[in-house]
Amino acid sequence: MTRIVEPAENPPPEHVVVERQGAVQTIRLARPEKKNALTVAMYTRCVEALRAAHADEAVRVVRLIGQPGVFTAGNDLADFMQAPFDANSPVLQLLRSLVHAEKPIVAAVDGPAVGIGTTLLLHCDLVVATDRARFQMPFIKLGLVPEGGSSVLMPALAGLQRATEWLMLGDPFDAHAAREAGLVNRVVEPAALEETSWALCERLAAQPAEALRLTKAMLRGPQRAATAQTIEAEAAVFMERLRSPEAMAAFAGFLSKAAPR
Ligand code: COA
Repeated sequence: MTRIVEPAENPPPEHVVVERQGAVQTIRLARPEKKNALTVAMYTRCVEALRAAHADEAVRVVRLIGQPGVFTAGNDLADFMQAPFDANSPVLQLLRSLVHAEKPIVAAVDGPAVGIGTTLLLHCDLVVATDRARFQMPFIKLGLVPEGGSSVLMPALAGLQRATEWLMLGDPFDAHAAREAGLVNRVVEPAALEETSWALCERLAAQPAEALRLTKAMLRGPQRAATAQTIEAEAAVFMERLRSPEAMAAFAGFLSKAAPR
């Protein structure tokens, strides 16, 4: 009797690639076909990578980077509709990990950085962006509310008027506006992003490790508890809003536009 062997299922594509080079761990978002929109699985992988970096004494710096032309389009909107979102959701675990991270995180942004793609930068220590980076917090257009601590951190950083405009109108802003507001440290050409962010990581990694850890603790420590609390308070409202008719209509609208393409 001939036995039919089913072909092995293709392994799921690696949408987050974690690379370790010397003392730097790079977390690379790699779902360019969907503009690096973040799925539950991608958040989970990022959390694991941050935990691994935290546990490994040889890692001194974490770098977070996207693909050429896109950092991330934010949360996957189909996931918003399908995946149940609760207090233990990987997205919240990621935000908590970022708030409590002890090692410096360098973010490198090219192209769109939408939703959490912008708000997570508030938890990074150095941010390099290209002149074609586009930041946006369009929560309100989706019937949602600010997340990731942004309702408090963004006004504290950029001033109330500018934060209000970005969060209430939800329009994109460029790297120069982001730099002026203090969200971005350096603006570079796209071809220089990889190298500039790497050089910053290397410089941080070459600093005395204990002094580096203590400096981050001093800079971030005083706001940590309040930021963590804000994230939870925002998340409670955000979860309710996800089920609101306003949000459902906005998600369906985006996905139905995308479907025929
Ligand atoms: N969730 C799910 N899929 C997304 C996505 C998201 N957040 N963002 C983009 N995609 C998908 C599109 O549906 C499209 O898929 P398709 O090729 O199967 O149709 C693909 O990624 C490419 O997106 P597209 O819109 O064609 O790219 P663009 O270069 O014209 O625009 C953005 C890029 C990021 C400006 C645009 O995709 C966008 O606004 N995305 C939604 C951002 C958002 O609202 N995020 C949630 C914030 S809370």
